[in-house]
Amino acid sequence: MSKPTIAVIRGDGIGSEVIDASLQILDAVFFNAEYTVADAGYDCFQQQGTPLPDETLEIAKRSDAILFGAITTPPNAKNYPSVIIQLRKSLGLYANLRPSRTYPYIGRFSDEDVDVLVVRENTEGLYVQEGKREGQQAYNILRRTEMACRRIVQFACQQAEQRQRKLAIAHKANVVKPADELWIEIAGEVVQNFDLDVSFEIVDALCTKLIMNPSAFDVIVAPNFYGDILSDLMAGIVGSLGLCASANIGQSHALFEPVHGSAPDIAGQGIANPLATILSAALMLDYLGEPAKANAIESAVVKLLQGPIKTPELGGTASTAMVTQALIDLL
Ligand code: NAI
Ligand code: MG
Repeated sequence: MSKPTIAVIRGDGIGSEVIDASLQILDAVFFNAEYTVADAGYDCFQQQGTPLPDETLEIAKRSDAILFGAITTPPNAKNYPSVIIQLRKSLGLYANLRPSRTYPYIGRFSDEDVDVLVVRENTEGLYVQEGKREGQQAYNILRRTEMACRRIVQFACQQAEQRQRKLAIAHKANVVKPADELWIEIAGEVVQNFDLDVSFEIVDALCTKLIMNPSAFDVIVAPNFYGDILSDLMAGIVGSLGLCASANIGQSHALFEPVHGSAPDIAGQGIANPLATILSAALMLDYLGEPAKANAIESAVVKLLQGPIKTPELGGTASTAMVTQALIDLL
């Protein structure tokens, strides 16, 4: 069998630090792949005049999977489109899977068995960045299509079937009309075809429920914007953004990245938690048909977090390199 090809996009800030750690872990589980490093992000923009060179997109398109660190999107830079949004669009990565689980001794819910998968619609809604500034007002277009709603809810139902068969559908159809009315109408149709315990949850109230009782939830499917917020909320519930992995899946491409960004406040200090990206690499192994290697990494992470070797945001004093080495020793 030929080696899988992986496009590696380090990006900005802590992106390269956590990617380097993840590549070491992939080596430690003897994952034999052909890696191609490609540029993207704000540093790339400053050097090459574009944050996403055509060559990077080509490499991403011809690879079996993409491992992505994080990029900086400066809020004030004009003509600077978000790289990750462009990649999701160009590669048709319509499903963003964001699992969060609790680990012993980490976060406020460490003694509860929280294991939630947020399935976020990744291609439309407010994140298409269509809108206008007109004099003293600005507006964004919020568009949902039946096709995209159907596709993502179907995907979430399939995920729920493999888990605890529980699906919460996040919406704000009481106010965001008609877009969210369409969303719940289509979701309601799709779930008929599955044998699941389904609930429709108004997204703000859902936030309260998640904080009060996160272990009551299994799979949550949400439009783009709500999914982004809900998954960061889950990161807080399980104790750190530095633990949250994600997969962006499409018909013929897949990209794996931590939920967190480039963290300029800690970049260059060697203290970024690499585990979110390492767990994203584990999701990639699963996708590429290597579940045993993926499980080995996940079990090693659980074991590691029970010990003292942790990065500062989890209350430890270890560096990125120390955490990576300790994980390699466990593997
Ligand atoms: P962020 O996720 O980079 O950081 C938020 C907070 O969490 C910071 O205090 C940071 O130090 C901490 N943090 C994040 N990851 C960590 C890790 N692995 N270990 C330890 N602590 C960690 O979000 P922020 O500050 O809102 O955004 C910074 C930049 O990243 C912005 O330019 C933003 O646009 C970009 N961003 C990029 C994303 C991507 O590439 N997919 C996603 C989110 C933000
Ligand atoms: Mg986010």
